[in-house]
Amino acid sequence: MTFPTHRPRRLRQSPAVRRLVRETHLVPSQLVLPAFIREGLSEPLPIGSMPGVVQHSLDSLRRAAAEAADAGVGGIMLFGVPSVRDAVGSAADDPDGILNVATRAVVAEVGDALVVQTDLCLDEFTDHGHCGVLRGDVPTPTPHGAGAPRGASGRVGPAVDNDATLVRYGAMAVAQAEAGSHLLGLSGMMDGQVAHVRAELDAAGFTDTILLAYAAKYAGAFYGPFREAVDSQLTGDRRTYQLDPGNGREGVREAVTDVAEGADIVMVKPAMPYLDVLAEVRAAVDVPVWAYQVSGEYAMIEAASAHGWIDRRGAIGEALLGIRRAGADAILSYWATEAAGWLRDGL
Ligand code: PBG
Repeated sequence: MTFPTHRPRRLRQSPAVRRLVRETHLVPSQLVLPAFIREGLSEPLPIGSMPGVVQHSLDSLRRAAAEAADAGVGGIMLFGVPSVRDAVGSAADDPDGILNVATRAVVAEVGDALVVQTDLCLDEFTDHGHCGVLRGDVPTPTPHGAGAPRGASGRVGPAVDNDATLVRYGAMAVAQAEAGSHLLGLSGMMDGQVAHVRAELDAAGFTDTILLAYAAKYAGAFYGPFREAVDSQLTGDRRTYQLDPGNGREGVREAVTDVAEGADIVMVKPAMPYLDVLAEVRAAVDVPVWAYQVSGEYAMIEAASAHGWIDRRGAIGEALLGIRRAGADAILSYWATEAAGWLRDGL
C-alpha cells in the first residue's frame, strides 16, 4: 500500500497539540454585553423570546455591569426603553431620559473596568419605532437652498428624513457623552451620521468619545426578539435605511465610507448570516471591526438547546469562534458574561 505523505491528523491527536496549533482565540475582553434598561422597573422583567435576557431595572443593571466587569468582559452596550415616546424621540437627548440616567449609574458602578457604550439611535424613543424622524415632523435642513428632498417615485411606507434625523443624532450624542458614555454605537444607518456626530461632539469638547459605526447593518428577520426587548413600536420595516441582505459589496462600501467620515470602529450586523461581509470588511479597512451576534442568533441557539436538539455550550462557543475567525476583533453577544466565564477554562 502507499502511505499518506501528508498526515494533518498529526496535529489533531491530543487536546494539548490541538490547543497549541489553534489559529483563532477568543478572550473575555473581546466580548461586549448588550443590556436593556427599562424606565420605571423595580424588578428585572424577562424577555420571552430571549430566555435568560431581561429588561433591567437600574439596580439589576448595575449588578449585571459589575458581574460583566468581574468576568473580564470588555464592555457593556446600553439600550434604553423609555416609558414615554413621541415623534422625535425627545427622551433620547433628555439628560433625565432613561438611557442617560442608566449610563451615569453604570459609569459610577464600574468606572473604567468596562468600556461603557450607548446605542445611538432613535427607534427605542420614537412612537412610530423608526430609527429617525419622519418627513414633516420636523423641518428638514436643505442643502444649497433646495426644496424639501424628494424620494424616488413608488416608495412605500413612511419616509425617514435623513438630514433632520442627523440633527437629532447630534443632540443625542452630546447628551450621551455628557452622561459619561465612552463609546457611541451609531446604529441608525442614516447617511452622513458619523461625520455629523463627530463634528457635534468635537464642537462640544468631547473629542475623546469613541464612535462605533454600524456600517454594514442588514435589514431582516434576525432582529425580531430585540424588538420585543425594547417594546418596539415599529410597523413595516427598515429597508429604506438598512442594507439589503443580497449586497456584500455595498456593506464594504459603507464601512469604507464610515472610516473616511471618522469612525473609530466599524461593525457588521447580524454576524452569522454575514460572515463573508465581515471577512471582506476586515480586509478593506484598518480600524477595528466588530460584529453583533444579534437577538435572533441568540434565540435560535437557546430554542434549539431548550429542545435538547443542540449542545448549548458547544454551539455558543463555535458560533463565537467562527465570528472571530471571519475577522471580528470584538463581538457584541448576549452571552458575553457567561462565555467569559467559560473562556477562563478555554472554549
Ligand atoms: C437599533 C438597533 C437594533 C438592534 C440594535 N440596535 C434594532 C433594529 O435595527 O431593528 C438589534 C439588535 C439585536 O437584534 O440583537 N437601535
